[in-house]
Order: sequence, then structure tokens, then C-alpha cells
Amino acid sequence: MNPNTPKSPSFDAPQGSSAATRFFALVPCAGSGARAETAQPKQYQLVFGVPMVAHTLRALSAVERLAGGILVVAPDDTFEWPANAEWPDHWSRQACGGATRAHSVYNGLLALRAQGAGDTDWVLVHDAARCLITPEMVNALIDACEGDAVGGLLALPLPDTLKLESHGRVESTVAREGKWLAQTPQMFRLGALLKALQSQIASDFQGVTDEASAMEMAGHHPLLVKGNAMNFKVTYRQDFELVEAVLKSRHTGDDLNTQGIKK
Ligand code: CTP
Ligand code: MG
Repeated sequence: MNPNTPKSPSFDAPQGSSAATRFFALVPCAGSGARAETAQPKQYQLVFGVPMVAHTLRALSAVERLAGGILVVAPDDTFEWPANAEWPDHWSRQACGGATRAHSVYNGLLALRAQGAGDTDWVLVHDAARCLITPEMVNALIDACEGDAVGGLLALPLPDTLKLESHGRVESTVAREGKWLAQTPQMFRLGALLKALQSQIASDFQGVTDEASAMEMAGHHPLLVKGNAMNFKVTYRQDFELVEAVLKSRHTGDDLNTQGIKK
């Protein structure tokens, strides 16, 4: 299926009351990438011949337990998915992105539900800009969270000493014990996450910088699942160099070339 002529896949309702819950991916891809200062939004910047987000989708679509996914792009997004970048089965592209990441995720959840995902299904929200995610990292999150009442997120214990700044100088050193850097995917039940986000609409999603923060505001305590520093978010222009170095180290010989990564 080509996302440029989208035909939303509809996910069949699970059969019977004992039907297993399913796992879906939701990838917010509607940002402008201002800090990366690239000519086009960073998620479409070419990395080994294909847009960065194609690397993200390739990794997610290799996770067998994911029943499908949704890529949330901006309503005015005119990016044409290139022919050399594989579009995964059971994925749709929805132009329902919003003004902030939280808006984009909220709209994407509604779209996912309209396609047949149920309130008890799990949704794994993953940034388009974290293109070094691997199926192993996603599976580790699912393994840790699928039996949990709330769900959780990949995160990293803070590795460096943390400084509090005041006017360009160090005010004090903040104890790093117990502090984690949040990554994605973040995995919650569709109904619970939708409800948590819904209750922040009135405040225009103030302070909702990830899914876990919305769940926290709703009184939940998401599970912290130790991730991997390789799963960083491409934010600045120089991050692309690191992405290319890591991808090169993962792919050898002719499976990596300027036409993209071959299977
Ligand atoms: N995102 C989104 N909708 C928005 C803003 C961000 O879907 N209104 C997505 C981005 O496309 C990205 C992810 O959320 O995949 C993480 O956001 P971030 O890294 O901050 O990307 P941008 O907002 O695009 O970058 P910047 O903040 O530098 O402008
Ligand atoms: Mg942003």
C-alpha cells in the first residue's frame, strides 16, 4: 500500500470477550523540526537515501506483535512517500497532526479508534524522530508492560551530573539519583491514554510533553523500563551524523547504500 493514496486499513474488532488485546503503534510525525534547522522537517531528511521516518517505520513494522500502526502527519503535509522507501503493511498515514505533540497524539488516538482499535488495546506511541529504535527495544518494553495495570515507557537513568542554572552560571548541583530521561515508545491502553489526554484539553495540554506525563496527571504511575542510549531523539542537525554512524555500524556490506537499506 502506498501512503500517498491512503486507504485506511480497518482493524477488525477482537472476536469474543476472551479475545486477546492487541498492540498498535502511533508515530507522531507532524512537527516542523525547528531545532534541526533542516530545509524540510527533520523526519523527512534523507538518511542513506530514505527519509528518516522510513527507518523508524521499518524497525516498528518488524515487531511481530504489533497489529498495525498509524503515522500522524500535519494537515498541510505534502511530502510524497518515495518509491524506494518501503511502506509497511497494516499502517496508515493520517493528516490529523496538531499544534503540539500532545495534540497530534490525541488526534491520532481518535483516528486509531475510528479504524477499529479498542479501548483495552495497547498503543505504543513512538517519536518519528527516534529512528534508531530496534525491534528488540520495543519487545523489551512490551514484555515488561503487557502484564502491568498501567503501562510504561522506555527511559534511561540520568548518566551525567545535573546542574541547575541561574543567569548562565551554576546555581547548584541536583542529585541525579532517581532521575530518568524519558524516551519512547510509551505504552498505554488506548482508552486510558485517551481519557488522560482528554482531561488536559481544557489546559491546552499544558505540561503534557509525553504520554506518561498525561497519565501521571491522571494519577497513574507508569513503569520505567530501562532503555538504550542509542534510542536518542534526533533534535539538532549534528544528530544526523550520529544516526548515520550507528546505522553503518549495524548494517554491513551492501545492505546499506545510498538507495536505502535493503532487507
Ligand atoms: N510532533 C508532532 N506534532 C507536533 C510536534 C511534534 O507529531 N505538533 C512529533 C515530531 O514530528 C517528532 C516528535 O513529535 O517526531 C518529537 O518532537 P520533537 O523532537 O520536538 O520534534 P519537532 O517538534 O518537530 O522539533 P522542534 O521541537 O525542534 O521544532
Ligand atoms: Mg518539538
